[in-house]
Amino acid sequence: MMKPKKICIIGLGKMGEAIATGLMDSELGHAYSITGTTRTQASADEAKATLQIECGTDNTSAMKNADLILIAVKPHQAETILKENQSILKKEQVIISICAAVTTEQLSTWAGAKPAIIRAMPNTPCLIKSGVTALCRGPRCSDAQLAEAEKIFGELGLVTVLEESLFDGVTGLSGCGPAFMYLIIEALSEAGVKVGISRKQATLLAAQTMLGAAKMVLDRGEHPASLKDEVTTPAGCTIDGLMALEEGKLRVTLIKGVLAATKRSKRMAKES
Ligand SMILES: NC(=O)c1ccc[n+]([C@@H]2O[C@H](COP(=O)([O-])OP(=O)(O)OC[C@H]3O[C@@H](n4cnc5c(N)ncnc54)[C@H](OP(=O)(O)O)[C@@H]3O)[C@@H](O)[C@H]2O)c1
Repeated sequence: MMKPKKICIIGLGKMGEAIATGLMDSELGHAYSITGTTRTQASADEAKATLQIECGTDNTSAMKNADLILIAVKPHQAETILKENQSILKKEQVIISICAAVTTEQLSTWAGAKPAIIRAMPNTPCLIKSGVTALCRGPRCSDAQLAEAEKIFGELGLVTVLEESLFDGVTGLSGCGPAFMYLIIEALSEAGVKVGISRKQATLLAAQTMLGAAKMVLDRGEHPASLKDEVTTPAGCTIDGLMALEEGKLRVTLIKGVLAATKRSKRMAKES
């Protein structure tokens, strides 16, 4: 039997824990031995108890023996951690960073230009294995290393490989997107309350409608506009609803929301 590969997750916070849990619960679980670190001992103890894995606060010893190092700390913490450990990082290792607004070039410089670099942008539904992750290849990353990252994040939802120049857009669309969707669900649920449905039932109707519509788009692979046309009976109710939404400029408002978040991500990248 092949020896499991060692993955060390630097930063077992919200996203780090989600990735660890997703991997351990998956068929890939047996192929990896997962350890992690946090900044404080209290968080390490908590992660250890929740995940039942080795977890401490010593990044150096955790990174030293790892085949794959996943950086899941806040963006400003990544620079210090990589620079402090530059001398122990090796060319056989792979670093995958999920830090928003941190480029593969920055990661490569901070890590000392030896390990292979991959950048990932997952989103919070990864916590329930319904996320979407964009990946891009950084310096020294081979096809096999990128394919392995695709498999790992594939355990947490869908994966797509994109050029790094599009990553601020990915942050604006799927990174921040869950918040936009919550807002829409909340608004639809308010509408349900307005027409006399209980809040609980209105939220259920709204959320499952969004989930179902999203599944139709993904499973059928059809253009959303043609699916919309299918539901829109001539002189029916849907067309009246759509007209009101167009009047309220729903489309352009959503586009502007994504553009504003993308712009902010670009600014953050410049500041880091
Ligand atoms: N949340 C999202 O929706 C999302 C989506 C995509 C990407 N990301 C990216 O994912 C990263 C993590 O986000 P998060 O929401 O998971 O953050 P979080 O919940 O605050 O977790 C951060 C973790 O990093 C640990 N940490 C801080 N400094 C450390 C150090 N020097 N050594 C080892 N561990 C250290 C913290 O430990 P302590 O608890 O001890 O401080 C904590 O466990 C960010 O870079 C973010 O841009 C987040």
